[in-house]
Amino acid sequence: MFGNGSANRSNRCIVAQTSKPAVRQTWKSALRFLVAIAPAILFLAGCGKSNSTAQAPAAGSPPAPSQQQFTIGMSQCTLTEPWRVQMDADIKAAADKHPELKVIFKDAQNDTLQQRAQVEEFVSSKVNLIIISPKEAQPLTEPVAEAMQADIPVIVLDRKLLGTNYTCFIGADNKKIGKAAGEWIVKALGGHGNVVELMGLQTSTPGQDRHSGFMDAIAGTDIKVIFSADMQWSEPKARDEMESALSRFDHIDLVYAHNDDGAHGAYLAAQAAGRDKQMKFVGIDALPQEGVAYVSQGILNATFQYPTGGAQAIDTALKILHGDPVPKEITLNTRLFTKDNVEQGGEAIQN
Ligand code: FRU
Repeated sequence: MFGNGSANRSNRCIVAQTSKPAVRQTWKSALRFLVAIAPAILFLAGCGKSNSTAQAPAAGSPPAPSQQQFTIGMSQCTLTEPWRVQMDADIKAAADKHPELKVIFKDAQNDTLQQRAQVEEFVSSKVNLIIISPKEAQPLTEPVAEAMQADIPVIVLDRKLLGTNYTCFIGADNKKIGKAAGEWIVKALGGHGNVVELMGLQTSTPGQDRHSGFMDAIAGTDIKVIFSADMQWSEPKARDEMESALSRFDHIDLVYAHNDDGAHGAYLAAQAAGRDKQMKFVGIDALPQEGVAYVSQGILNATFQYPTGGAQAIDTALKILHGDPVPKEITLNTRLFTKDNVEQGGEAIQN
């Protein structure tokens, strides 16, 4: 577009028109001619300059040296579950749009001590900001407080800590999700039935809140929780627990698992026992390639979306790094997916 060819052609045209009559002039008129063509010469010089500077910077080229660079340390509690792989991917995709950001990803491999050490490392290497999705509330509270003490802002994603010594918490309201799941279950079972509850790690806040919200919703109904176990967010553990439930109870109407991995593990156990058609399965997370696909395939009857918050974390990090104010808590919304609405992208859960 800014190639020299066309620009030079039009410039030549200007010079030719101006120079023709000048050939027949005396010395005096030659001088007048020079004065007359001066603007054209200046114009030519100007065109040359704009041709060389108007090139757009190549995509992905490094930012101007004056732009400040920021390093973000991201501590992920585990990458064995697809939802967490998605969270890191969402953070990376959002950060890649900002060449001034560099994100160092660490995987604590489901080990609280490792995750503590990661936060301490980020502090000693003086990153500009920390994002943490903690495995458990209590043991990760202190290292985050130490980061805050060292003036490193901290964004807590998805699972909470004890107290409020962090810069910003981002996540969906797990109590609300548990309550919405309970209300859906009460309706689906007509207010009575036997339920197996497979809980997320009970030292993590989503596990606690998804349980208490559910209990609030079924209070006063004839829904009985006949079997309940902590499957620690793990599909194989959920499958094992469901095998125990199946061996102990002949009549199970529904399995409420605190995540889709757990619901799927329970489904596999029931299928292996030839009992999957006798009961319903409800999960949480609704990743398109996992929970939502299970609903489309008729494996799960319902799943509730639990957004990763990855994009919002980068958005908030940028504000903090540029000194702009951010809220103490950002609550993300959820959606319900069932066979009736899955084709339409689910439906929003109202407050
Ligand atoms: C992944 C996960 C999700 C769940 C979330 C709760 O580790 O178990 O399935 O929704 O963590 O923190």
